[in-house]
Amino acid sequence: MAPTLSRRVSIDGIDLSPPAPGRLLPPRAFVSPAVYEAEMRRIFDRGWVHVADLPELRVPGDFVASTIGTTPVVVVRTHDGAIRGFVNACRHRGATIAEGRGNCGRQLRCPYHAWSYGTDGRLIGVPSREEFEGCDLGDMNLLTIRTATAGPMVFGCLDAAAPSFEEWAGELPVALQRARGDEMELAFEYTYDVDVNWKVYVENGLEGYHVAIVHDVLNDFVETKTARHFFESWSSYTHAFIKPDYREMIPPLAHLSEEEKTYVRFGHVFPNLIPVLAPAEFSYLRIDPVAPERIRLVARSFDLGGDLAGLRDFRREAIDRTNQQDIGVVTRVQRGLRARGLPAGAHSSFLECRIGHFEQMVSHALAVDASDALPAAATARVETSILREAVLREAHRG
Ligand code: FES
Ligand SMILES: [Fe+2]
Repeated sequence: MAPTLSRRVSIDGIDLSPPAPGRLLPPRAFVSPAVYEAEMRRIFDRGWVHVADLPELRVPGDFVASTIGTTPVVVVRTHDGAIRGFVNACRHRGATIAEGRGNCGRQLRCPYHAWSYGTDGRLIGVPSREEFEGCDLGDMNLLTIRTATAGPMVFGCLDAAAPSFEEWAGELPVALQRARGDEMELAFEYTYDVDVNWKVYVENGLEGYHVAIVHDVLNDFVETKTARHFFESWSSYTHAFIKPDYREMIPPLAHLSEEEKTYVRFGHVFPNLIPVLAPAEFSYLRIDPVAPERIRLVARSFDLGGDLAGLRDFRREAIDRTNQQDIGVVTRVQRGLRARGLPAGAHSSFLECRIGHFEQMVSHALAVDASDALPAAATARVETSILREAVLREAHRG
């Protein structure tokens, strides 16, 4: 893989060039504040990030405040029924105009000096407007961001030059459409604050190597050794077969093929979303970076309700139990990665191949912005197709 992706990337004295096959990025890449800051600018500011879910944006005025890396954003259901996204910063002096989620009625109103914006982002109210005489407020609307939906999820993107969401998310939008994901309701959610670098938690979600050792319920449920892996430019997927005992628990689903009822799709949408699509439900983990060694983990689960909600209680317990088991091991990883002088680790060629793919994407994204030789979009298009083939070759070598 190294010959095709030879550009050197170094931040804070840490070599972030694409690791050799089977090797990992250096431990300091998971603790360095400078690397973290570069990732916010070069990865999160430039990609598609999950920001909200449709069940919380049902009626006009519903809003969800979220973040894309370090940029606060707000997503709104407008009065003409569309989903719109904005940078969540007042154009007056920058206060966030929304926090949490709720319904704003016909306007988003800044709590500081009460500038107000329509749900389409237009500035519609300025108290004591005459005070701004001589200052053109005509272009002081909220800054718009790109939005896209897949199943019950809403994504946002700050970068006009980023690829389309369909290209970014790979097979997931179509799979969610087949599973009637946009009709799903929120069944339950958990949030956890965890002392790890965001990449450590993502990598844990990309591999089945630990499942038999760390997870009881998940290990009973899926077969990891026979899984199939799929790589896309900015996402990857593992299709893991459901063990026979559990297949009997799946309710009748006329909208899916027999084959689609046999496996669970564990995904990764770069940078920080781990979607998990099972035949009768959909869940995700979103890993929100908070600091170099801290994340907020958002776990949500959806289903079609009615009879299909019958397994909710089982799932609610199983997902929390599985998350707690993961938190137990990943926090140990983070503590170990602080060890002075620890060399880069290794990843296995089949069960952990998607970690290799992820670290290639991280390295690639950090390198793209470092170069001003080519327009960013062209660089990304050429090199990610090389990347995909290189990673596939490596995956098949195992
Ligand atoms: S900062 Fe929003 S109105 Fe002043
Ligand atoms: Fe796990």
